[in-house]
Amino acid sequence: MTENNQHIVQLLLKHHSIDVSPFDETFLEKSLQKRIAVMNCLSQEEYFIFLQKNKKEGIRFSHSLFICYSEFFRNPLTFAFLERLILPSLIAKKIYSKQKEIRIWCAACAAGQEAYSLAMLLEENKNGNANKFNYRIFATDQSQQEINEAQKGHYSDSAIKNLTIKRFNKWFIKHGNNNTIIPELKTHIDFSVFDLFNPQLSAPPASIFGDFDLVICANLLFYYKPEYRKTILSKINKCLAREGFLITGETERDILSKNNYKEVYLHSGIFQKKQQP
Ligand SMILES: C[S@@+](CC[C@H](N)C(=O)[O-])C[C@H]1O[C@@H](n2cnc3c(N)ncnc32)[C@H](O)[C@@H]1O
Repeated sequence: MTENNQHIVQLLLKHHSIDVSPFDETFLEKSLQKRIAVMNCLSQEEYFIFLQKNKKEGIRFSHSLFICYSEFFRNPLTFAFLERLILPSLIAKKIYSKQKEIRIWCAACAAGQEAYSLAMLLEENKNGNANKFNYRIFATDQSQQEINEAQKGHYSDSAIKNLTIKRFNKWFIKHGNNNTIIPELKTHIDFSVFDLFNPQLSAPPASIFGDFDLVICANLLFYYKPEYRKTILSKINKCLAREGFLITGETERDILSKNNYKEVYLHSGIFQKKQQP
């Protein structure tokens, strides 16, 4: 660990009981430089002295480590594979085996964009499918604020830029600058707070036993140190159904490959459950 990181980790723990040690070193260093600039401190030492005495800044620093940016259909290639290949085959398998429902977990859902994107794909498939199927999406995040936003389903004009006009007209109601998800799309999604590092819980309690056909954990792993990424991946792998899919962010594919996951289609960001040796 660099000297700066060691200092900030120890200072936050000692003075404010905040543990930022799980975060990736480079990310921690960049976040530190940003807070120094925001607070107009002339040197790192000045910022450390200020931080030591100021609990509010300790909290602000730790909050700055949770980046909540998200988009609808964020990685177009991943969503194209989901729309054309993965979801149709999952649906066909469920219908054929007369199983009850497709179970999905969005494990870091931010303000809900990812969960709603998946729900749109599944609903659209329902409309074109003579056979009935059911699905349930458990969408979780460590932030209560993000979950509140997700449940409301209000988005600004800039937040909906990735959507086609057809999808927008079908799934949103426009009120001035605000675009609201229609209630019908919310009926199969269960939003709740869930910290992936909570040692007491192996899956969102609402899902009862996990057994997910698909888990999406995108744009989260790279914020953490390798040993913490492993903890998250192991938790997810355990609650994936046999042959279940694990989806990750575009820039996190290497992390999964290094952890011996096999990508189903090259560059798709879609991996399959690792069988236990
Ligand atoms: C950059 S956003 C990614 C959102 C979405 N998955 C996407 O790819 O667009 C990262 C999200 O991970 C959440 N997060 C970070 N650490 C977490 C943890 N330990 N448990 C659950 N959620 C976490 C943050 O609150 C944030 O909403």
